[in-house]
Amino acid sequence: MALQQLDIQHLRNIEQTKLAFSPTANLIIGPNASGKTSLLEAISLISQGRSFRTTRIDQLIQHDTTGMLLVGHYYQDKEKQIIGLSRENRKTQVKINGQNISKTTELAGRIPLFVLIPESHELLDSGPKMRRQYLDWGVFHVEHQYLDIWKQYHRILRQRNSALRRNRTKQEIQAWDQPLVEKAEVLHQLRKTYIEKLSPILARYGEQLIGENPKFDYQPGWDLKDPTISYTQHLTDGFDKDLERGFTRLGPHRADIKIKIKGKAVQTVFSRGQQKLLICAMTLAQLKLQPAESILLVDDLPAELDPKRRTILMSALKDTGAQVFVTATEPDLIDVSDWPDSKMFHVKHGSFQDVI
Ligand SMILES: Nc1ncnc2c1ncn2[C@@H]1O[C@H](COP(=O)(O)OP(=O)(O)O)[C@@H](O)[C@H]1O
Ligand SMILES: [Mg+2]
Repeated sequence: MALQQLDIQHLRNIEQTKLAFSPTANLIIGPNASGKTSLLEAISLISQGRSFRTTRIDQLIQHDTTGMLLVGHYYQDKEKQIIGLSRENRKTQVKINGQNISKTTELAGRIPLFVLIPESHELLDSGPKMRRQYLDWGVFHVEHQYLDIWKQYHRILRQRNSALRRNRTKQEIQAWDQPLVEKAEVLHQLRKTYIEKLSPILARYGEQLIGENPKFDYQPGWDLKDPTISYTQHLTDGFDKDLERGFTRLGPHRADIKIKIKGKAVQTVFSRGQQKLLICAMTLAQLKLQPAESILLVDDLPAELDPKRRTILMSALKDTGAQVFVTATEPDLIDVSDWPDSKMFHVKHGSFQDVI
C-alpha cells in the first residue's frame, strides 16, 4: 500500500504538517537536524506502530507539548485505508478507517515497510539477532500463518526453559519437546523456503550493485552437518547440557543467516562500502519478493556512496516497485530523473515545502 497523505502534529521538531506523497519516489532534502529522520519515523510509526529509532514512543512527542497525532491515508488499487494514531498522557489510540483497534502491534504487518538506515550495517556486524529479525520480517509478510506459529513456538520454548530452570523432572521437561519440535519444523520449513526464493533475487541485486554473487547460508538453529540427525534427536541428545545451562540451547530461536562470497564469510572479503551495498541488495531482494506494494525508508544512505553507486542503487530501487522515501542533505545526491511522478520536499526546522 502506498502512503498518499500524512498529517503530523507535534512529532519531534515537526509542529504541524500535511504532506501529499508520490507513489513512486519521495526525496526529503534538508540540512542536519532539520527533521528528515523525524519524518521517516512518523511514517514508520503510523505504518507499523513503532519507530526504527526508539522503542519509547513518548520520545517522539514534541518537547513542551502533551501529545502527538498522526493520520495516514494509504491506497492500493481502489482500496483506501485511513490510519490514525494519537498519543496523549501515555495512552496510544489507533484507528483504522474509523474503527478503534486495541494495540499498536496490530499495525505491524498491515503495511510491508522496510528501512535502510545508517545503523543497518549492524546486520552483518552484530550477532545473529538482527539477521533473524531480517529473516522473520521477510517471511512474516509473505506467509500469513508465520506470526502465529512464531508466537506459539516462543511460548512453548519459554515453558520448556522455565521447567529447565526450576529443575523439574526429565519427564516434565521433555513433555515440551514434541510440541516444540512441531512448531520448530514449520518455522524451519517456512524460513528455508523463503531463503530459497530470496536467493536468486539476492544474486541478481548483488550482481547489479556489487558485481558479486552473495549467497545465503541459512542455519536453522541446530547442526545440519549430519542431516540424518533430526531436531528432536538434537533435543534428546542435548538434554543434560540444557539442564546444566538452564535453557534450550538449540532451535529456531538460535537460527542465523550468514552471507558468503565464493564460500567465504562476507566480512572477510568485502570492504565496508561493499558491505553497505550488500545490505541494500538484501533489503531490495525482500522488497521484490513482497506480494503487496511495500514502502521503503532510506535514511542518509546516499551520502556514503559514490555517485555511480548511487545511480545504480536508485535504479535498483525503482525496479522493486516499492514506494520509497529517501533523505539527503543535498538534492543533487540523488538522481530521480527517470522516476515518473517523483516528488521533492525541502525541510527546515521541521517545516516542509513541496518543490515542483
Ligand atoms: N521530542 C522532540 N521534540 C522536539 N525536538 C526534537 C525532539 N526529538 C528530537 N528533536 C530535534 O528534532 C530535530 C530534527 O531531528 P532529525 O529528524 O533527526 O534531523 P535530521 O534527520 O534532518 O538530521 C533535531 O534538532 C532534534 O534535536
Ligand atoms: Mg537524520
